[in-house]
Amino acid sequence: MAQNDKNAQSEGFPHATTENLNIIIVGASLGGLATALALKRLPPPHSHTITLLERNPTPLLHNQGAGIVAGGDTLAFFKRYDRCGRDLAAGSIRRQYLNRDGEIVHKEDMRQNMTSWDLVYYMLRANVDGVKSDYCEVPKQDDSREGHVTHLHGHKVTGVEEKGDKVVVKYETNKGKAGEMTADLVIGADGPSSTIRSILAPDVERTYAGYVALRGTVREDSVSPKTREAFSERFTFFHAAGIQILAYLIPGQNGTLAPGERLINFVYYTNVPSPSLTDPSPEFRELMTDVDGQYHRITMPPGKTAPGAWEKQREIAAQKLPPQFAEIVRGTQKPFVQAITDVLAPTNEFLNGRVILVGDALAGFRPHTVASTSQACFDAMILADMIEGKVGRREWKKQTLGYARTIQERGLRMGERSQHEELELEEHIRDRNLASKPREDEVWPAWAVGDVE
Ligand SMILES: Cc1cc2nc3c(=O)[nH]c(=O)nc-3n(C[C@H](O)[C@H](O)[C@H](O)COP(=O)(O)OP(=O)(O)OC[C@H]3O[C@@H](n4cnc5c(N)ncnc54)[C@H](O)[C@@H]3O)c2cc1C
Ligand SMILES: *[C@@H]1O[C@H](CO)[C@@H](O)[C@H](O)[C@H]1NC(C)=O
Ligand SMILES: *[C@@H]1O[C@H](CO)[C@@H](O)[C@H](O)[C@H]1NC(C)=O
Repeated sequence: MAQNDKNAQSEGFPHATTENLNIIIVGASLGGLATALALKRLPPPHSHTITLLERNPTPLLHNQGAGIVAGGDTLAFFKRYDRCGRDLAAGSIRRQYLNRDGEIVHKEDMRQNMTSWDLVYYMLRANVDGVKSDYCEVPKQDDSREGHVTHLHGHKVTGVEEKGDKVVVKYETNKGKAGEMTADLVIGADGPSSTIRSILAPDVERTYAGYVALRGTVREDSVSPKTREAFSERFTFFHAAGIQILAYLIPGQNGTLAPGERLINFVYYTNVPSPSLTDPSPEFRELMTDVDGQYHRITMPPGKTAPGAWEKQREIAAQKLPPQFAEIVRGTQKPFVQAITDVLAPTNEFLNGRVILVGDALAGFRPHTVASTSQACFDAMILADMIEGKVGRREWKKQTLGYARTIQERGLRMGERSQHEELELEEHIRDRNLASKPREDEVWPAWAVGDVE
């Protein structure tokens, strides 16, 4: 044991160990929940004590009702850990590109699975802490010999400090109480504006990319037959100067996959120049000021867009988009707006590896990469593998940082090309296909992993 500890020490922390660790996870959205589930499911003799601290004041996060492309690591994660026994996703069998008149100008066979944020969230909660919902059954399998997870909402983390070989996490509750907890390992899964990262790497900035995504859904059975056909089992795209829009089918209310009840989900990128998030242009401010006059810096919540600003977007959609896309944009009841941003932490471990970052807290990708949820799932699985001793510490770091930096940069390049350059259709297709390359086929470039010792 002592010998083991010494080895572990020289290797740094975290490391392979069968000790029962006290683990705090900051943030209980998809990244935090995925990490909690992977660590909980480690086989005996592992049995870790895991506490999720989520600042949101309600027990469940509010669903934005939007789609997620379930990439390879997301599917692998659910295959490995999920016990709900239901399908995660709807399938698309083809990618296609339309012209302004709505005619198909390019198509290729490609199988992809698409899911919804809320279905992923509820499936994770069912597995992590047994939350019942209309989305899925709570697993019946006995998990009492696995790690134990406590989910605490209304706990906003405000500080993190090293104390001997432990870490002290400070928080404030939504009832105004301050408290602290001690852990062996702290995971920052607190998203692209991460508090943990801002404490440990204060120079990192989250910057605005110069364009936004207008997002929304419509029920499959509420559109014309021609429009329904364009998106049924199809991942469909349209590009024009300063505009790109894509749409695909996702599970409907309560995660239903019943034909007719599924949702057509769109992501519509459009340039809205602004010097920065803190110094918005009048145009940006108008779009991000809600119906009650409140300004939102990064996300305008569903259904809160001011009618005037949204009406303007509906007009532009009618003028510039193919009819099928115009119909779904104009038909959406609760649009939301997401400012596209970039952020990347310099590394993923701090305080001698006792604090690590995962998911969007490590690297906030542009959505073109369709990789945010996959990154969160991958970071969770490989961390569990390292603690189990299946993956070495250096390999863990190389893979997680390689993924974060390479995909972050790829998303930035894709977005800049697509929004700010005049590309031929072939170039758009090439960029898109690169983004769906399986992670296993990636070789991380030297610039992304050269500093991993
Ligand atoms: C409510 C919500 C809805 C979303 N909906 C969609 C969607 O529809 N489609 C889509 O593609 N992506 C969506 N996302 C983003 C998506 O979840 C992430 O891009 C991806 O899954 C990786 O997530 P993450 O857990 O690393 O970060 P995030 O999802 O950003 O989660 C970070 C979590 O940390 C919590 N947190 C932040 N700071 C603190 C703190 N100081 N103390 C405690 N907790 C803290 C936040 O409240 C949040 O729950 C959504 C995110 C959220 C939070
Ligand atoms: C992915 O989509 C296919 C249909 O193309 C479906 O049969 C399969 O069940 C889906 N996978 C998951 C994990 O939901
Ligand atoms: C989804 O669940 C809610 C809450 O239980 C219920 O009211 C609603 O009817 C369900 N919708 C569908 C389509 O099953």
